[in-house]
Amino acid sequence: MTLTDKPRQALSVPYAIERLDRIPSKRYYDPDFYAMECELLWPHVWQMACRLAEIPNPGDFVEYEILDKSIIIVRTDPTTVRAFHNACRHRGVQLVKDRGNARSGFTCPFHGWCYGLDGANTFLFQPDLFEEDNRQPADVALVPCRVEIANGCAFINLDDDAPGLRESIEPFAAAFDAWKAESLWPEWHLACRMPVNWKLAMEAFMEGYHVMETHPQLIPFGVAGSHDLYRDVKNTGAMSPFDVDRKSKGANVEIDTRAFIDQQIEFMRTINEGMAGEIHEKDVRIAEGLRDTELPKDLAGATETWYRELNTAVMSWNERAGIDCPDLHMINARDLNRAVFYCFPNYFLLPTFSSSSSYRIRPLGPEECLFEIWSLTRYRPGTEPSAPKTPVPMAPDDPRWPVIPGQDYSNLPKQQLGLHAKGFDFMRLSPYVEGLIGNYQRLIDGYLAGLDPDLLVQAAQRVSGPFEVEAVDIGF
Ligand code: FES
Ligand SMILES: [Fe+2]
Repeated sequence: MTLTDKPRQALSVPYAIERLDRIPSKRYYDPDFYAMECELLWPHVWQMACRLAEIPNPGDFVEYEILDKSIIIVRTDPTTVRAFHNACRHRGVQLVKDRGNARSGFTCPFHGWCYGLDGANTFLFQPDLFEEDNRQPADVALVPCRVEIANGCAFINLDDDAPGLRESIEPFAAAFDAWKAESLWPEWHLACRMPVNWKLAMEAFMEGYHVMETHPQLIPFGVAGSHDLYRDVKNTGAMSPFDVDRKSKGANVEIDTRAFIDQQIEFMRTINEGMAGEIHEKDVRIAEGLRDTELPKDLAGATETWYRELNTAVMSWNERAGIDCPDLHMINARDLNRAVFYCFPNYFLLPTFSSSSSYRIRPLGPEECLFEIWSLTRYRPGTEPSAPKTPVPMAPDDPRWPVIPGQDYSNLPKQQLGLHAKGFDFMRLSPYVEGLIGNYQRLIDGYLAGLDPDLLVQAAQRVSGPFEVEAVDIGF
């Protein structure tokens, strides 16, 4: 059952989503549509502004830029993070760039006004030169910005009246409480400046349907060929080729268990070499230690036993090393072992075993975006490395990209160009496996149409979660 046959309620938005399986191409390049997103979407949504790993010590700050706004996120003490608009209250000079430590506060480089970590003005050179009603504490303190913490990250919202963070990003937040995202630490951080609309860049990571052609090395064991990938999708629900254990459920095929294990390990190694934290090298080595595991002879039983043994081994290894690790059995039992999770509007986590990858995509213009990738893993408390420097953005075809994102990035600029073709009025989606794309695009329309914030939160909760889901009714 999908909802694409039912016309959507008309929202007064240009190029509106009327069918969840048809996305008008102008949404990806029309300057007026982009201007509406800048005015009606971005200033009202919670955005992942930094990882707490980037600001571990009091005084550590990160600058987060979104469109023409710049926000300072600063740790003020071991348990408190605050955020301020990055503009001196005198004549507007930005106080910080990038990252750093300002333990003794911020000093404006123009006329030397100073601010404490709480935003209060602590020095105003010759205050008597200013009229009294222009130098009251509230007039000269930094303007605060909303900031809240979840899953090891600080999120900001430019809208003082928007609903709170947690309710806005569930069930994503609860899933990553279970995954213990707060102990995931960045080991590398890369960025790509891409000549594509920010939504287009995200959508390449909302389905696994592209794996067959774009990443042929990742077609998993037990899948005979491309026709087999989604064989049962209408009966069993959407599932990704990456979700190997889900794919094999009920697969009563007899297998060679030695070959099965070899191929599982090979699959893990291929992902590791292609995308580092997506399956961490540590976990590949743990899997190699399980080569002699006895498995049932049927595919479903072998897969279940293999993942159970591997999860146990990963947890034991981390426990012995004094490293925080989620309860992977509980994660399986709660069906949270999914390849990709999306957090509206622009943040992703891709957890596997001990580690994870993560993406954040920000608009730079109607047809340009900044795509960041992190590889995240866990360390024994007290041994975490410093967070990697803010990356210099690379081109999508830079040979330094790991194999898997390099494959994804090779398609995107061509897709952006193709959207302009005569006669290409809309993308046509599978409502079974590309449903997330229509769902979140419809949510954007809700923002652009100015729908009630509570309605938008309820809709967001149907959008933020696993990728590769069906088109659903998000409430409008
Ligand atoms: S602009 Fe900052 S002190 Fe003058
Ligand atoms: Fe991909």
